[in-house]
Amino acid sequence: MITAPKGTIDITPKDVYKWQYVENLLRKITAGFNFKEIRTPVFEHTELFQRGVGDTTDVVSKEMYTFIDKADRSITLRPEGTAGVVRSFLQNGMFADAQPTKLYYIIPCYRYEKPQAGRLREFRQFGVEMFGSYEPSADADVISLVKLILNKLGVKDITLNINNIGCPKCRSEYNKKLIECLEAKKDKLCPTCQERLYKNPMRIFDCKSEICQELIKDAPKMFDSVCDDCKDHFDKVLKYLDAMEIAYNIDKGIVRGLDYYTKTVFEFVSNSIGAQGTVCGGGRYDNLVEELGGKPCAGIGFAMGIERLLLVMENTGIEIPEEETCDIFVAALGENADFKAAKIVADLRTAGIKAEKDHLARSLKAQMKFADKIKAKYTVVLGDNEIENNKVTVKNMKTGEQQETSIENIANMLEI
Ligand code: HAM
Repeated sequence: MITAPKGTIDITPKDVYKWQYVENLLRKITAGFNFKEIRTPVFEHTELFQRGVGDTTDVVSKEMYTFIDKADRSITLRPEGTAGVVRSFLQNGMFADAQPTKLYYIIPCYRYEKPQAGRLREFRQFGVEMFGSYEPSADADVISLVKLILNKLGVKDITLNINNIGCPKCRSEYNKKLIECLEAKKDKLCPTCQERLYKNPMRIFDCKSEICQELIKDAPKMFDSVCDDCKDHFDKVLKYLDAMEIAYNIDKGIVRGLDYYTKTVFEFVSNSIGAQGTVCGGGRYDNLVEELGGKPCAGIGFAMGIERLLLVMENTGIEIPEEETCDIFVAALGENADFKAAKIVADLRTAGIKAEKDHLARSLKAQMKFADKIKAKYTVVLGDNEIENNKVTVKNMKTGEQQETSIENIANMLEI
């Protein structure tokens, strides 16, 4: 038997209603913030991620699903949503629209990581990107969206950790300090971080090796070296969060796993799902649009792992109501009645009622058992007598109450 590739999951009907519930809620709340949906390709030119996400990141250097297509082009399955959305923003001239441009997406992403609880090779992200605003109120706007989503879903045990990682101007000064601090311990760093030390030293904070983490523990933090402009911006973001009564925790250790961030970075972390507790990550990326070929244009956004979000909900006992799928089951006794049942079901469906009948030539008893299994709210039994007299009995399966009516009137008897 062929099984699904490692690190992928099937979302079967047993669980899909949970996804639909969460996705519907995400769309509804996000629309209330005036974000519009964007759909971009699953695959892009590899260069987009190399330039956008950064080739010293784990995501680009180790985790991408990259292949050469039949015309010798290097193609990559998107490991995240931001780079593709920025490309599309530019390619479709959205910078000429009234700003800010507010976009959201619900997409599958692909990363060749070691699968574990909450970490997959194909996973789904809900994300938003806002372009065109350098103002701290934009940072607070997207953070407040995450907060509202978590509140509406009933998720409580999640902490907002926030940090300021400055801009290229203050970062280059800081990088010198960091290199100075780590140079003496260089040989003890993992081979990847030895390379990162001169190319992109802040990345070392993001290394998964415990030795590197120990070596960098007491190193200076970007937060303490930001320029006045970056400090000002961040202080105002916190003021907006205070004004909106959003609690946060400043975590100077957050650098995020992608290179495009400037100033504000943040993560929403849960303790209830083990090591992969970051449910949502995001931040400001004021240089990315320009790096990908556009005119200078601010950006800020986040992405939430939907699998992780559902894990948190499951582990903290938040139940999602299962949608009822059958209003009425029309059981038939004999072939003649079955033809009539098909017509009744078709008419009920046309009227917007969720109707079902038998398709396995079952006995009446087995049909009723099946109706029970699919949780039909009502049933009707159709035999030659019922057809001849145009009289059927509609049974409420919950209360046991039965009511007689004509075939044409079935729909009016249902309280749904
Ligand atoms: P990220 O932190 O790489 O950020 O991913 C965002 C979220 O996707 C994570 O917090 C996590 O919940 C989920 N995630 C990441 N990798 C996996 C995985 N292997 N399995 C399951 N879930 C995963 C970004 O992707 C940025 N594009 C976010 C962003 C948007 N920043 C600005 N705008």
